[in-house]
Amino acid sequence: MKHELPKLPYSYDSLEPFIDAKTMEIHHDKHHQAYVNKLNEALADYPALQENTLEELLQSLDKVPAEIRTAVRNNGGGHFSHSLFWNVMAPKAGGESVQQAQDEPKGKLATDIINTFGSFQNFKDEFSKQANGLFGSGWVWLYVDKNDGKLKIGQTPGHDNPVMIGNKPLMVLDVWEHAYYLKYQNRRPEYTEAWWNVVNWDYVESIYNQN
Ligand SMILES: [Fe+2]
Repeated sequence: MKHELPKLPYSYDSLEPFIDAKTMEIHHDKHHQAYVNKLNEALADYPALQENTLEELLQSLDKVPAEIRTAVRNNGGGHFSHSLFWNVMAPKAGGESVQQAQDEPKGKLATDIINTFGSFQNFKDEFSKQANGLFGSGWVWLYVDKNDGKLKIGQTPGHDNPVMIGNKPLMVLDVWEHAYYLKYQNRRPEYTEAWWNVVNWDYVESIYNQN
């Protein structure tokens, strides 16, 4: 079983003006594709590992042979995180068949965010602070902690992710420079602020509601 690049659930220009079409095209077709290719290359001589899902690989990296462990961690992690990232975004406005971004979550997720962080604004502020404060390349997550079942915000460096330690990711923001440099150059806080306009809260909530 080869790992495959998922199709973007919208066109490259759907997230304009917040995320530009050129960035989306390069980010998905070049960067994400490269992670998928390198993951498949790493697994080429290990047919048993090819039977594992991506999540299974990431959850048991200690069982991956040492000579390909770093490649699987980095490229498998990159594949996983980008696949989620595309889905937690949606156009602010668009055709009827396309899911739309919403300003805020609804339902149980909204209630639990408010109960956990005090208010939706507090949650956004803390998430943005961690995104803007992350040193170098990495990701910022909203996830469910396996130990207490609570919502948490956290950073991971490189392409590490909450799945690796058994936590359940709900939402993620890519703060690698390749995610924003063409449009925002060094102004990561502007990118973070713009990104809130294209969050697909319906999708985030659907993951949260899955057991
Ligand atoms: Fe990326």
